[in-house]
Amino acid sequence: MRKCKLDERPRFASDSQEFLDRAVVEKPIPDRRFAVLFDNAEPSLVSDDAYAPYGNFGFPPPPPGRPWIYSNFVQSLDGITTLLGKHASGGEISQSPEDRWLMDLLRAHADGLLMGMNTLLVEQRIRGPESRGIVFQVADPKLRELRDRLGKGRERNIFVTHAVNLDLSRHKVFDGDVVDAAILTSPAGAERLRAQGPHPHVALLAAGEGETFDLPRAIGKLREELGVRYLLCEGGPTLYGSLARADLVDEKFMTVSPIEVGQLVPPEQERLAGEQTTPVLLRPTVFGGPGYTRENLTRWSWLSCRKAGDHQFSRYRRKGRPGTSGQR
Ligand SMILES: NC(=O)c1ccc[n+]([C@@H]2O[C@H](COP(=O)([O-])OP(=O)(O)OC[C@H]3O[C@@H](n4cnc5c(N)ncnc54)[C@H](OP(=O)(O)O)[C@@H]3O)[C@@H](O)[C@H]2O)c1
Repeated sequence: MRKCKLDERPRFASDSQEFLDRAVVEKPIPDRRFAVLFDNAEPSLVSDDAYAPYGNFGFPPPPPGRPWIYSNFVQSLDGITTLLGKHASGGEISQSPEDRWLMDLLRAHADGLLMGMNTLLVEQRIRGPESRGIVFQVADPKLRELRDRLGKGRERNIFVTHAVNLDLSRHKVFDGDVVDAAILTSPAGAERLRAQGPHPHVALLAAGEGETFDLPRAIGKLREELGVRYLLCEGGPTLYGSLARADLVDEKFMTVSPIEVGQLVPPEQERLAGEQTTPVLLRPTVFGGPGYTRENLTRWSWLSCRKAGDHQFSRYRRKGRPGTSGQR
């Protein structure tokens, strides 16, 4: 990809129509899996062959007091993130090796990978009653090496939960043999987890009061206590919605998969035990929970766009919204 000096770049792609007009449309080359339609992000921190399939990939410095938070989701053309039922995994929406590879690239740059507890439970349920679930990690060997060269430490999976019924011994991710883990929870949740005995590779970060959980405070503790500077949120929609409402999403990586699935679960789809009591079962979009009014909705700059086959890979950076401090 043509390299340009940082000071030649307009700050954000959508701030500059001229930049969009001049956008370099690149043809895929043999080692590049993504065609770059435009990219106005910061340059990569290091020059490394591992970036070849994607091209440029950099971040700004993190803000004081908390990590830089970037999310990664895949959605259908109609904005759906999961089919629910037996095929609830995000991979069923993605159906793309490039999207899986990009997930690894994003993970390689993260000091921690943040998820809601349901995303772990769904992946475990899909694997059957005997499964102890999965560990979320970088799979591509070249990207694991890149991670080492970037000086990132051991990978860390971080879960948000009230920990009402969570038994740490039932989930492989808390064994500590593959990645470190952390749990963000309320003080009462942390108390329940401590009562389960020592789990040396699981950091418990409590924030709030009693059963009440304080998400922004917990995110601040990730930086203060675990040194997390770049935090990748991989969902699901419930967690993303609460992070977004707390003004805690700086960037979104969004894959649009060329499938259309519909929001209402159709009558012919088998319902799992937990889905049977809901008469109208809706598949979620990226943003779960209460959203915004017209007056306080968020606005985003379109920072880069790539394509691979019929999949679209976009990156957006938060502009801020009325009444907030705006872009951090
Ligand atoms: N398409 C994609 O890119 C993508 C990405 C991720 C996930 N998904 C799919 O999305 C589905 C899961 O999404 P989801 O919205 O149900 O689950 P989720 O956000 O992964 O997890 C929800 C749970 O996380 C905890 N939680 C989240 N935010 C919290 C907050 N602010 N305070 C306290 N606890 C909080 C709660 O756990 P407790 O109930 O334990 O308190 C809550 O029940 C799965 O089907 C998954 O495969 C798709």
